[in-house]
Amino acid sequence: MTAETSLTRRNVLRVTTAASGTACALALAGCVPAGPAASTAVRNALPIPTTGTPVRVGKLADVPVGGSATGTAKDVKIVIFRPDETTVLAYSDVCTHAGCAVAPHGDEFKCPCHGSTFRGSDGTVVTGPAWEPLARFAAAIDGDWITVSV
Ligand code: FES
Repeated sequence: MTAETSLTRRNVLRVTTAASGTACALALAGCVPAGPAASTAVRNALPIPTTGTPVRVGKLADVPVGGSATGTAKDVKIVIFRPDETTVLAYSDVCTHAGCAVAPHGDEFKCPCHGSTFRGSDGTVVTGPAWEPLARFAAAIDGDWITVSV
């Protein structure tokens, strides 16, 4: 597996902690590590695409366990959740109800348009009106980096 060797403006994360639900810039200290890992429910989760080239989207250290982030990989807007020390999960930020952009909300992602929420642990719907899970992308930890295949 190869990854781009440097971040570009297209591959940048904004981090949100589960505890606060507030966003903070990557370079800022004070992003508080968050609480419990998300649900392990996997029902209705979509398969993870196996195609795509992994690209670095941000530093692992900038997304605390229990935290989430937004970012882009090759112009594709994504949301990321880190349930534990060794796992990162990535999804499209496109709400499956009507296409608005979801945003980190604790250990979930929330759509500002009609209020749907999705689990960070698998992208499935917590509350509608959406009923399909977020599209998932393969994500990995590569040394100090988070990579996402798009
Ligand atoms: Fe997201 Fe309607 S577009 S809930």
